Amino acid sequence: MRIFVTGTAGFVGFHLARLLLAEGHDVAGYDGMTDYYDVRLKERRHAMLRQSPGFSATEAMLEDAAALNAAVAGFEPDVIVHLAAQAGVRYSLENPRAYIDSNVVGTLNVMEAARAVGVKHLLMASTSSVYGAGEEMPFDERQKADTQLTIYAATKKANEAMGHAWAHIHALPVTMFRFFTVYGPWGRPDMALFKFTKGILERTPIDIYNHGEMWRDFTYVDDLVRGIRLLIDAVPGGPETAVEGDSLSPAAPFRVVNIGNSEKVRLMDFIDAIEQEIGRKAIRNMMPMQLGDVPATWADASLLQNLTGYRPQTPFREGVRRFVEWYRDYYNI
Ligand SMILES: NC(=O)c1ccc[n+]([C@@H]2O[C@H](COP(=O)([O-])OP(=O)(O)OC[C@H]3O[C@@H](n4cnc5c(N)ncnc54)[C@H](O)[C@@H]3O)[C@@H](O)[C@H]2O)c1
Repeated sequence: MRIFVTGTAGFVGFHLARLLLAEGHDVAGYDGMTDYYDVRLKERRHAMLRQSPGFSATEAMLEDAAALNAAVAGFEPDVIVHLAAQAGVRYSLENPRAYIDSNVVGTLNVMEAARAVGVKHLLMASTSSVYGAGEEMPFDERQKADTQLTIYAATKKANEAMGHAWAHIHALPVTMFRFFTVYGPWGRPDMALFKFTKGILERTPIDIYNHGEMWRDFTYVDDLVRGIRLLIDAVPGGPETAVEGDSLSPAAPFRVVNIGNSEKVRLMDFIDAIEQEIGRKAIRNMMPMQLGDVPATWADASLLQNLTGYRPQTPFREGVRRFVEWYRDYYNI
């Protein structure tokens, strides 16, 4: 297959591209190398992908519609997986405009480029943050999700609505993933596991929000990209493509799918796993709840399983072990 992936210098895009290349597919990457976090990490990821002959990349912004159209048209992909975005819940309090530009304008440009070449399937990243203040857990794709708490979550909910309308108008299949707290090697420096590992190794305090009363459905990155890979083949269509518990739209070839571990882990247990792996206690700085944050996330992953036969399953202690091993090797610490 020929697969166009946006965000290939990013955490998830890098892992997905690696998996697709290992399976022998041709992958065209697209990434603006934004400076939201250390650009060297993005350059290293892209450099690793470039070692594979099946990989090519364009470094440009999604907002640059001409560059994006040219890259997509030149590659003629069968499928597009759109992962590039301004991510991060907390940064959206500081710089909401970056989210509108990258996630709303950028996503429209991806959809238009996809339409111009008539892809067989467009898959795009949403987030568990769209469940917002919802308290009915585990989160199921069919439940109402209208209470987003940040502009980040609002832009991803907008992407879902845009994807639905686009699938309806052009009769082109769209799958939206709702990812749940992804972690693992080559991870993002703005996320908790990265910050905690860095703090413990450097003996600096780590900020623990809501005094540790937090639960997350941590999803190991290899499991996540395996789920994405299998969903590429689960193309939404008419009612005959529906499975049990499906979120398939009655009005468009469109569905939303959670990709989560379906296990609610207490943040303090997660920190304990990092401390055990490193062999040192963290200096804990207990903090109040952050604005826009939610105390818990927990995925119902039955739809993913019904569509693909697959369910993420890496235990968090194993995933943490692999992350810490990577971190120490990468930063030589
Ligand atoms: N990692 C998670 O826990 C998580 C959870 C839920 C959803 N998501 C979503 O998954 C996707 C991938 O996230 P990630 O963790 O790999 O993030 P990431 O920040 O590591 O990767 C995103 C990539 O997109 C690029 N990018 C950002 N804005 C761009 C723009 N306007 N034009 C071109 N490139 C741009 C960045 O340079 C970066 O390399 C995102 O859509 C994110 O919102 C991630």
